[in-house]
Amino acid sequence: MNGEAVPVVAIDGPSGSGKGTVALRVARALGWHYLDSGALYRVLALYAVRREVPLDDESQLAELAGSLPLRFDQGKAMLVGADVENEIRSEQAGDRASRVAPLPAVRRALLSWQRNCAMPPGLVADGRDMGTVVFPDADCKIFLTASVEQRAQRRFNQLRQKGFDVNIHRLFEEISERDRRDAGRRVSPLRPAEDAMLLDTTELTIDQAVEVVLGLADRSRGKARG
Ligand code: C5P
Repeated sequence: MNGEAVPVVAIDGPSGSGKGTVALRVARALGWHYLDSGALYRVLALYAVRREVPLDDESQLAELAGSLPLRFDQGKAMLVGADVENEIRSEQAGDRASRVAPLPAVRRALLSWQRNCAMPPGLVADGRDMGTVVFPDADCKIFLTASVEQRAQRRFNQLRQKGFDVNIHRLFEEISERDRRDAGRRVSPLRPAEDAMLLDTTELTIDQAVEVVLGLADRSRGKARG
């Protein structure tokens, strides 16, 4: 449990592992809050581009991150009051996010924003470092994986559905590159927490993955209650 004894389910994993969809569905099933931490990095990068702050200017980016005018309205990211959901979901936005994400001061500046999301009755948080850094005391930590091929296919379907013009081969390359960057960075690299449960979703449907995660969350809550 975290400091305020709010239960947290931390779901980490690489892009396209299904963690976003699974985490949102698990949050709904439990009636808990949901944190899409990737959206923070995506919105920050967008905000920086708009403010003409270079994506490697750590101190200016950290300053923006410390007072990011972001809120979620029915799951949609609102930057300075305007819906930026479509803009932040492109591969370019993901790529920019993974450029600002390695900067330690940026990650520090976003910590309290994320921790403040842990409110009763509970939080399901998804990202790369939920179980390792942001909520190290979460009573349920899950690391979702899937093969790169499967993840590229999922992203392809998702982006096509949203009307983006995408190429599966390019997506494969971009996802592999983003994996390398996320896993290879010095600060908060993408890796399972020592006490995380690994779940490979390559052969699972979303429904099956949600069922498994709900089962694991239930088991952890049982343990936390003693
Ligand atoms: O999860 P999503 O694809 O939206 O994340 C976009 C990028 O933001 C990731 O590739 C990663 O570089 C960064 N990120 C992060 N830590 C998180 C969530 C996302 O570094 N907790």
